[in-house]
Amino acid sequence: EGHMANDTETVAFDVIDGIAWVRFNRPGKRNAMSPTLNRAMMEVLDELEFRSDVAVLVLTGEGAAWTAGMDLKEYFRETEAEGLKGVRRSQRESYGWWRRLRWYQKPTIAMVNGWCFGGGYGPLFACDLAFAADEAKFGLSEINWGILPGGGATKVAVELLPFRKAMYHALLGEPIDGKTAAEWGLVNESVPLAQLKDRVTEVAKILRAKNPVALKATKDAIRRVGVMTYDEAEDYLVRAQEAANSFDNEGRKEGIRQFIDEKSYKPGLGAYDK
Ligand code: ACO
Repeated sequence: EGHMANDTETVAFDVIDGIAWVRFNRPGKRNAMSPTLNRAMMEVLDELEFRSDVAVLVLTGEGAAWTAGMDLKEYFRETEAEGLKGVRRSQRESYGWWRRLRWYQKPTIAMVNGWCFGGGYGPLFACDLAFAADEAKFGLSEINWGILPGGGATKVAVELLPFRKAMYHALLGEPIDGKTAAEWGLVNESVPLAQLKDRVTEVAKILRAKNPVALKATKDAIRRVGVMTYDEAEDYLVRAQEAANSFDNEGRKEGIRQFIDEKSYKPGLGAYDK
């Protein structure tokens, strides 16, 4: 099930045994993120997020790249030619799907099969877990063509790397391989490319077996508590746990039933009968 990869689709996916395999699909352009790709990715994420046959989403790339970052021609040069309106629109489209992915309903895994540059750090961080091929290459290459790592890439470097490594990575613009990326903490693990899909499948199957409400509550908690004080985090976690416990709260349904079907009370004027 899912879209078959073809020459015109910039994003392809298959759903197999509860795992959605989503692929950047511009191999001829090293999967650079064009505005067209960014719009297509948002649509695919939208389609898959609440499907009952999808438990885990894996984001990977067709061909030799994961993604070579933003498309320097279509994302930068052509939108800049449209003026600020075009620039802001293309930023919204890319940042929009990365944000959507950061808070995705299902657990997500970046399967970094090859090149991962610049803007690619947005979706890399958006995925909850990341597994790389030893042969993959990661780089904040912005400095090599004269900009700072924008679109969140600097933030991702500082979130995931120690200060000195983040600074070195951003200022030097030297690519690092998958093994180094794992040592530095950019990804969870690195394995030879030939074993990458098996390892990711193994991890996805473990996630697939867990309580989906607990998975969502846990991944959000890990992302949320970082900027909180201890006491704020403690409070947030109590509330998040309680919200998760009552996720399928029958009371709300009863309140709607008494108003719509039974017509026994008016929510604007008072509470339903428990
Ligand atoms: N934007 C636009 N086009 C790109 C991009 C990109 N980011 N990356 C690759 N392409 C295109 C090339 O222009 C080329 O197109 P063509 O065949 O029509 O001429 C095609 O993809 C293949 O690229 P090659 O460079 O020939 O592929 P190669 O395998 O030799 O090198 C590599 C791969 C190292 C990824 C190289 O393409 C590259 O350096 N790309 C740019 C990486 C980068 O710095 N991205 C921007 C990060 S900064 C940001 O995202 C904000």
